Amino acid sequence: MSGLTISHLYHRYGVKEVLADVGLDLHAGETLALVGPSGCGKSTLLHIVAGLLTPSEIQMRSTFRSIACVFQEPRLMPWKTGLDNIALGLQAQRLPKAARRKQAAELGHRMGLSMEDLLKYPHELSGGMQSRVSLARALVTRPDLLLLDEPFSALDVGLKLELYGLLAEQIQQHSTAVLMITHDLMEAVRLADRILMMVADPGRIVREFKLHTPAKERTSTWIHQTTDELMQLDEVRIGFGLMEGELPKIELHDHAPRHGGCSV
Ligand SMILES: Nc1ncnc2c1ncn2[C@@H]1O[C@H](COP(=O)(O)OP(=O)(O)OP(=O)(O)O)[C@@H](O)[C@H]1O
Ligand SMILES: [Mg+2]
Repeated sequence: MSGLTISHLYHRYGVKEVLADVGLDLHAGETLALVGPSGCGKSTLLHIVAGLLTPSEIQMRSTFRSIACVFQEPRLMPWKTGLDNIALGLQAQRLPKAARRKQAAELGHRMGLSMEDLLKYPHELSGGMQSRVSLARALVTRPDLLLLDEPFSALDVGLKLELYGLLAEQIQQHSTAVLMITHDLMEAVRLADRILMMVADPGRIVREFKLHTPAKERTSTWIHQTTDELMQLDEVRIGFGLMEGELPKIELHDHAPRHGGCSV
């Protein structure tokens, strides 16, 4: 299979078991959302996939050659302009500086940044502009796998939708695979081909949902209806702390869709 396969992933911070027997696969060009409550280990899992953290145990196979990450906080270099922050992504490629800047500016413009904005330093940019720079810096390398750790969670809903639109355009054009984590189920329903539902203590995957309607055909009615349908499920309610109850330790359960929006 081309893509990423993970199985038997365990991670402990000291004696605390944070991830227990997590497994997932992600195909080339696919968008997979990991959804779960705060503290269930989503960022830990993403850092492991990014190679930034070594897990206690894992079996992993990956055919992805280039990986880019976008984190919740933009993590820009404060001493470089927005333009040079984007161009940083291209530093590993043997391109003359002028060519790197040209590519960076083109993508920056597509992300809604003017040349005037691009020549500013991060502290002179608004939070939304910094997020655009950070997204452009990741996309400029044309990664075959993009890891997103709730990069837009601090932004207002209009800007968030605009950035997700820009992101969707880019990933479709270049068939980028995306592993995105969020604690916002509706965001996952809007964007993902599949959703993995995680719960905490220890962090594990309890459900998988497939969304059959292509992302660009999803209307806001469809998104609301599908999210509502998922929110009715006991696992989802328990996972998000909306209902008391025990969750399965590991195994996945079947779910028969009611309005046909999704299935396991
Ligand atoms: N460096 C660390 N050292 C010790 N414990 C940690 C460390 N990083 C995270 N943890 C713990 O691991 C658990 C999972 O954390 P993680 O950041 O992966 O959760 P998350 O699902 O991303 O949460 P959120 O939605 O709030 O971002 C939490 O209990 C957290 O306290
Ligand atoms: Mg996190």
